[in-house]
Amino acid sequence: MFARVDSSAGVSFAEKVHVESQRMSMMVAFLCLSLSSLLTLATAGGVKNCHPKCRCEVESYGLFDSFSLTKVDCSGLGPGATPIPIPLDTSHLDLSHNSISHITDSMLSGPGYTTLVSLDLSKNLISRVSSKAFNKLRYLETLDLSQNVLENLSDGCFSGLPLAEVDLSDNRFREFDLNAFNTRGQETPISVDLSNNLLSTVSRNPHLHAPYIKSLMLAGNQLRTVPRLAGIPLQYLSLDGNLIRSIEEGDFEELTDLVYLSLSGLPELSVIHPNSFRGLRNLQVLDLSNNFQLKTLSPDVFNGLSALQELNLSESVATPLPVTIFNHMPSIKSATLGPNMHCWKTHKQGQFHRQIGQAKANDILTCDVPGIIL
Ligand SMILES: *[C@@H]1O[C@H](CO)[C@@H](O)[C@H](O)[C@H]1NC(C)=O
Ligand SMILES: *[C@@H]1O[C@H](CO)[C@@H](O)[C@H](O)[C@H]1NC(C)=O
Repeated sequence: MFARVDSSAGVSFAEKVHVESQRMSMMVAFLCLSLSSLLTLATAGGVKNCHPKCRCEVESYGLFDSFSLTKVDCSGLGPGATPIPIPLDTSHLDLSHNSISHITDSMLSGPGYTTLVSLDLSKNLISRVSSKAFNKLRYLETLDLSQNVLENLSDGCFSGLPLAEVDLSDNRFREFDLNAFNTRGQETPISVDLSNNLLSTVSRNPHLHAPYIKSLMLAGNQLRTVPRLAGIPLQYLSLDGNLIRSIEEGDFEELTDLVYLSLSGLPELSVIHPNSFRGLRNLQVLDLSNNFQLKTLSPDVFNGLSALQELNLSESVATPLPVTIFNHMPSIKSATLGPNMHCWKTHKQGQFHRQIGQAKANDILTCDVPGIIL
């Protein structure tokens, strides 16, 4: 009796071991299978409906590849290649370098296009985008139209798209109405790059809802004045390299969310009026470098910059600024006042440096140039 129980217990133990090892080998086989499927899918041949001239790739993520992205590279196919059929569920499509001149209503409407998250149309010859060209791209977040010859866009061509990033740099826009980015529900903030165009006017219609633009790059255009952007919840703005001659009191009024402002390399900028930056109470970085015509600045220029942490005046003001400028910037941490003139915030044990101003109880601003005017 005793022996029988013992032996049956032994059998059941052996059975258990057997079941366990079977389960293990199944898991190992499954792992190998999923690894090899990952490897085959990751090589181009494994993707269904891949156009012979395109390179298609599936990137799988997660345990047992539960999540995957289909990336399709159809760049450099040459003229006449579009519309190109793409695999279903394509998420990223590269159509750059194809001599495309016109985005028609049907070019981006085939199966596979509806799921696109990112579309690269850069480095073509695009001069026209039909008003319904992007209609089917209901999930499109990133659109690159840079390095084309666009002068205008049809009204509403972005409406309904959940765009987060649009690159329109290196085109031929002369004017631009930012209400083009009044897109679906405005849930996601958009970053817009309009650098290196021919822009002399950037506007928004004050009677329409302000577009939800977070970052606006306008460098390398022909703006002669600071554009009126009041109402737009901008955090990053670059106006580098424009033809702005003077910055006026209140030019940035109402841009209360702005964190980063770059006004570098403005070849004609000769005056910044007092209170020009008034209202920028959240600004942390102000780049005024490489403004060769800017001879001097009144300390009152910096009124209202209560959150400013970094100021760059490198290659700008010829005459050293009085340290009283720092009285307007209680949060300053670092300032470049010239090629070899750098000031930074330290705690009180800074006896090796000359103390030039006291911003907060234990913080002292020190500069690494002995000749600075006190
Ligand atoms: C848009 O630009 C094209 C040239 O690229 C021009 O033919 C057309 O008239 C322009 N349309 C508008 C509405 O300005
Ligand atoms: C200030 O601007 C100059 C010129 O653009 C740049 O080289 C330098 O790195 C900047 N300094 C800081 C601290 O950002």
